Parts: sequence; C-alpha cells; structure tokens
Amino acid sequence: MTAYRPDALIASDISAYLELHQHKSLLRFLTCGSVDDGKSTLIGRLLYDSKQIFEDQLSALEKDSRRVGTQGQAIDFALLVDGLAAEREQGITIDVAYRFFATEKRKFIVADTPGHEQYTRNMVTGASTADLAVILIDARKGLLTQTKRHSYLAHLLGIRHLVLAVNKMDLVDYDQRVFDAIVADYADFARSIDIQAFTPIPISGFRGDNVTTRSEAMPWFTGPVLLDHLETVDVDAEADRAKPFRMPVQWVNRPNLDFRGFAGLVTSGTLRPGDPVRILPSGRTSRVARIVAMGGDRDVAIAGESVTLTLADEVDCSRGDVIAAADAPPQAADQFKATLVWMDPAELLPGRSYWLKLGTQTVSAVVRAPDYAIDVNTMAHGAVKALTLNDIGVAEIATDRPIVFETYADSHDLGGFILIDKLTNATVAAGMLQFALRRAQNVHWQTIEITREAHAQQKNQEPRLLWFTGLSGSGKSTIANLVEKRLHAMGKHSFLLDGDNIRHGLNRDLGFTDQDRVENIRRIGEVAKLMTDAGLIVLTAFISPFRAERALVRSMMPEGEFFEIFIDTPLEVAENRDVKGLYRKARAGQIANFTGISSPYEAPVSPEIHIDTTRTTPEEAAERIVETIMGAWAPIL
Ligand code: ADX
Repeated sequence: MTAYRPDALIASDISAYLELHQHKSLLRFLTCGSVDDGKSTLIGRLLYDSKQIFEDQLSALEKDSRRVGTQGQAIDFALLVDGLAAEREQGITIDVAYRFFATEKRKFIVADTPGHEQYTRNMVTGASTADLAVILIDARKGLLTQTKRHSYLAHLLGIRHLVLAVNKMDLVDYDQRVFDAIVADYADFARSIDIQAFTPIPISGFRGDNVTTRSEAMPWFTGPVLLDHLETVDVDAEADRAKPFRMPVQWVNRPNLDFRGFAGLVTSGTLRPGDPVRILPSGRTSRVARIVAMGGDRDVAIAGESVTLTLADEVDCSRGDVIAAADAPPQAADQFKATLVWMDPAELLPGRSYWLKLGTQTVSAVVRAPDYAIDVNTMAHGAVKALTLNDIGVAEIATDRPIVFETYADSHDLGGFILIDKLTNATVAAGMLQFALRRAQNVHWQTIEITREAHAQQKNQEPRLLWFTGLSGSGKSTIANLVEKRLHAMGKHSFLLDGDNIRHGLNRDLGFTDQDRVENIRRIGEVAKLMTDAGLIVLTAFISPFRAERALVRSMMPEGEFFEIFIDTPLEVAENRDVKGLYRKARAGQIANFTGISSPYEAPVSPEIHIDTTRTTPEEAAERIVETIMGAWAPIL
C-alpha cells in the first residue's frame, strides 16, 4: 500500500540514510509479538550490535536505564526502541516506528509494530511494505493467539518470508526440546493457513544468543543466526524488475510549453527510450521519448526508481493514470471482491460512499454488506452485517469510475488500497483486491440492452421515489431539500422535482381546478417514474391532495420503491405561518380552489413515513426519512 511507505512519512531522514548505503540491497522487515515477548530488546540489540546508535541517543539511554533499573545489564535495549515516554509508562509500544540500520552486506528498515490486541491497524501499516516478518515467541509461553493473529495478517498481506524467533531461550535453559515442540506446533498452524515455509531460530535477545553471533549455549542448533538470515534472504527485487512495466503517474510536470513530463515511481518492470507504452484507463498508446531523473537523461528506468517520462505523442495523461508496457497492460474495472482490514472505531456502513485510494488514484467507492468476516483466532468464516475495529472481512466494492488495478497477489502497489471516511478524513480500512467482478472494458463490447437495473447498478444504488405530500406551507420542500442534501453527501444520485421546476415548465398550462391537479400529478408521476428508470432516487414535493392520484403513481412503481411521506402540518399551523401570504389571500377570496380552504386535502391513510411537524424539526424529519429509506434498502445497498 503505497500510502504507507515509510519514505512518505520521514522522507528526508530516509533518503539521507539510503544515500549513504546506496550500493547495498534493502530489506524491509517487520517484527511482531505480544507484549513482553522481548521485541524491543531484540531490535535494540540488532541496532546496537550493528553500531547504528548515535552517541547522544546512547547517553540518554544510559540515563534512562539507570532510572528504570535493568536487571544487571548495562543498557536496556527496549528503552532505545520504545521511544515515547508515554509508551514506556504503559509498558507497550503503541505505534509503528521505523528504524534503520546497515551491515556490511545490506541495509535494513525495521517496522516495529505493537503486539497489543487492538493495534492490528499498526501491524497492517507496518506489514504493507515489508519483505519479511519476524514472529517472536516467548519460549516459556509457546504459541499464543497473538502469534496466530500476526502470522495470519503477515500472510494475508503477502509477506513471503517468515522467521519464527523463539526468544528467551536463556529462561528455558536453552533446551532443544522446548524449541522443537514450539516449532512443531507452529508448523501445524502454518499448514492450516497455507503458509508454505518459515525459518525457525532459537534466540535470546537479552543475552544476544543467535541474534548477531552464534550461541555457544545451543550447539544443537545448526540453522542460521538471525542477522545472517536477514542479510542473505532473497527479497525478490529481481522479480519486480522482470514483471511488465508499470508507473502510476504522481503528477504532470509542465514547466514550459516545450516540456510535458509524467512523474512517478516505477513499481515494476524496466523501461527504455523508444519502448511502446499504454496509458490506462484510456488505453491510448505512445512511445517513450525521454527518461529524466535527478542527474539528467537516463537510458533505462527500473522498478523502485522515481523518474519523469516524456512521450512521443501528445496524449492525455494525468495524475492517477498508469503508464504501462503497451503489450501487457493492467486492467481497469469498477467492481471488485476485496479483503478488508477494518481499522476505525466507527464500523463499516455498507452503502456509504468512502474515498478509495489505490496508488495515485482516488475514487468514490461503496462497500457492500460483507460476505463474511474471518475470525483470526480460529480462521473460521462467520456471517456479519458490518465490520468493526480490527475485523478482517471479504466484501464487494464498487467504485464510481473504473480504476487501473492488479490483484494484490500480483502487485501490492496496484492491488493494495485504503478507504478514507469522507467527513473525518480518517483511514478506516486497508484492503487487498482479490479480483474484478466485471471488467469495465467489456461493457463497451457487450451488446446488452441498458436496462433499468443496469442504470441503477452503475450508480451503485436502487431507484426510489420519495413522494412528499401535505398542505401548502407544510414544509414539504424544506424537508425534501434536506433529505436530498444528505443523500448527495452519501454519494447517492438523486433529483428533486417540485413546483419551481414543474409548474413553470412542463405543467405551465395547468391551474388548480381538481381536473388540473389530477393532470398535474399524473404528469409528475410519469416523469418521476422515468427518472427512477434512469436509476435515480427521485424526490417529489407537491401537495398532491387526492388519494387516487397518489395511488396511481404508487401502482406505476415496482414493489418497495415508492415511499409516501406525509408531511403532517395542521391547517391552523400552516395558515398561521403563511410563508407565501397565500392563505390570507385565499381567505380574502382572492384565490379560488385553495387547498384546505376551498379545495379538499385527502390525508394519506397509511403512508410509509408520517412526519408530525409540530413535534419534529425539519432536520430530525430528514434524518428519520433517510434512516427509513436506508433501512429499507435491500441487503446489498
Ligand atoms: S397540487 O395540488 O397540484 O399538487 P402543487 O404542489 O403543484 O399543487 O402546487 C401547490 C403550490 O402552488 C402551493 O404551495 C402554492 O404556493 C401554490 N398555489 C397557488 N394557487 C394554489 C391553490 N389554489 N391551491 C393550492 N396551492 C396553490
């Protein structure tokens, strides 16, 4: 998930650091374990033994160690890592911290994620860019729920290399039987969730056994020492280069009329000037004219590099587009099956519109009711209505326009995404695309008839007709307006028909005799019906005084789509308000056939929604109406 790349968080520190060790390969890894498994001590030791602690950090650490007291050891390595004072007091690490160190052979970025149960989101944050995960186990405790949870998440997030670090071996007398039993247990579990391989290592972070140097206390162990393994494990950088070329466009660089460059990070593949490329989602093709990077023109761009491309043709290409190998482009789609890790205290609302950010693309997306959630302790699938904090579930997602994607298995960059709440801007979920449900391109090829359902489906909603009825001055338009605003904010496609756009146009020829009112409502009913055929949620605000015409419109609509909403304001109240001064004129005999005075109003007998405006504010009414409408939504939306 590109949004979580540590470089984005502390770019200047990292780039200075990486510059220094430019020639070395990079391993990003993640450590996970429960509270007290000794994770911080282990990372501290790796940093210390590879001499990456700066002098000032060291002296601060010695001071802290004296204050806290360290069981006979000169320095408490855990203090080095648990950076924040508050965390020290709590005794748990509460956010992802990235550390850097390097050895002769390799440079490393460690994401240190907390083990505490509710911090799954931090684990996901750290895991999304990691090549390897170190799963820590306390030799005295063996496999815990947390161990399974972390392993499952690491596997789910596509981390290919797992190290099972059985820690605190010093506290079990370096006993091989303890180690073997834990490894056997873990192997059983790993098989059950389809983890193909893992590397078990018995260590003591506290004493330093098998961390950077081979332990003399465990001669029976013949596998690799942790640091050696980290230095030599193959991290697939080569594989990324061998994949087809992809570069999500981050921005268009246009300093003057003669230069138009597309800047971005090459996520996979290799590219040379002259190579044919295709721009997605438009599908237009061109050739690479120049590859420009920091030092000037390049003759090649490879995965992992940030470059600016210029193309031979004037083609449309903007932020969010993906430039790809012309003969092996990724696909675009707008409906997906995805795995979601819910990370917000507020639960997932199926049908609500969230921002979906995938690489440099941001679109509106609606998550449907989850197919199931996965119990990470038992791996069982269970039916759920929504996802809550730390839940992992599988659901369908529909975006408002096609996005360029690959499955998460093929590409973390084009298959990993986050969901953002539109109001709070909080990241509410991380997701992994499994597959597209319907390829967007196919829509143009199929000679399908564009049905009512197709129109609605494209809008990710079900059509509705919200028929407001009530006396003049009862508050129909006011409430209908508030309802429409709420629907709009939820990403729904709606249209409000009321006197202004009907009596001045379509029904300009009609007055207020009974006959004209019947015709007025008949025409409005027909128009509203057509608009629902186009997939819209239609709101109408007319007195519509006669039961028969309201019943007629109801009968034109499919079952369950028509909502009669009675805005019930007693005549005295409406007359007292007399917002337009019409009641006064009607009483004075200046307006004939005025509803409630000289023309009847037939109140609904069993409306779907009944709003008593003497007890309900317009805002409350709108809220209730939206709730009722959403509650009546079929299971999906
Ligand atoms: S309906 O009865 O045919 O549904 P409609 O909602 O279109 O009526 O128009 C009602 C609005 O027209 C009122 O809110 C008022 O502003 C205005 N109006 C003008 N003359 C009349 C009348 N005789 N009776 C009711 N409303 C009238």
